[in-house]
Amino acid sequence: MTKPKVFVTRIIPDAGIDMVLDYCDAAVWQEELPPPRSELISNVKGIDGLLCLLTDQIDAELMEAAGSGLKVISNHAVGFDNVDVAEATRRRIPVGNTPGVLTDTTADFAFALLMAAARRVVEADRYTRAGRWKTWGPKVLLGQDVSGATLGIIGFGRIGKGMAKRAAGFDMRVLFYDPFCSDDPYAQEIGAKSVDLETVLSQADFISVHTPLLDDTHHLINDEAFDRMKQTAILINTSRGPVVDPDALYRALTGGSIAAAALDVTDPEPIPKDSPLLTLENLIIAPHIASGSVATRDKMATMAAANLIAGLKGERLPYCVNPEVYNQS
Ligand code: GLV
Repeated sequence: MTKPKVFVTRIIPDAGIDMVLDYCDAAVWQEELPPPRSELISNVKGIDGLLCLLTDQIDAELMEAAGSGLKVISNHAVGFDNVDVAEATRRRIPVGNTPGVLTDTTADFAFALLMAAARRVVEADRYTRAGRWKTWGPKVLLGQDVSGATLGIIGFGRIGKGMAKRAAGFDMRVLFYDPFCSDDPYAQEIGAKSVDLETVLSQADFISVHTPLLDDTHHLINDEAFDRMKQTAILINTSRGPVVDPDALYRALTGGSIAAAALDVTDPEPIPKDSPLLTLENLIIAPHIASGSVATRDKMATMAAANLIAGLKGERLPYCVNPEVYNQS
């Protein structure tokens, strides 16, 4: 039997790649950096399935280049803003993602960023290594209390809820804004309160962003939003970079509209080496690693492989973002 032909756009953990190599005739992009657009286009020609990453733009041009044999697009991520899902649906191609398995790992990291920004952990490390620790100082590197503070969550999906759960353990007051979820039993259970965006922005000591990137959420955190925040507020973003306007963030951090920020995602990614944001002491930036634990990346890889293989077999994807493809006659 000829094996289905697939392209895998990067080396993913063994747990997933072994499944793919077992079932498919797979070409795997071996470089550390993603395939340039021209390579992506030429590698997808004639494939049956694509296993891609959030760094790959999967649009109509690419689907056209792959040809009519393309049966499945499996994204190795929970977010899928890199895939033109409407176009895939039009072409009856199911698109898979990896929800659930990374919720706790990502919420852990978002909370780690919150703690690190509140207590200036990264700055303290730099300070110490620079030989500036001369003595115990009553006013050295003072931060903000997390316990008892108000956390404002924007986007109360799985990861937003995970953040709320962690905050409850720190006796935080939790407010959340989510236009698609206001009355949530889990929120009631942990005492999180649904409010409007204005209330989150103006009342929170920490604001953590967990919304997907949509037209409505692009630069949702802009100059106006920063103007509404407390001057002591700390912003955390582990969702998608373009939800925060980077120029407005720079103005807010240098002009004193907020105290600090911690980002796992930037706009663009990677952040340009000469970005003025990189000069700021009151900003922590990580290279989009919130889901990056060994165990979680293994689970993501096996889920992505399972989605790919199901699609190649003509079966329903275990995790499909456009299930409407199965209702098309
Ligand atoms: C990571 O950002 C993901 O969407 O999985």
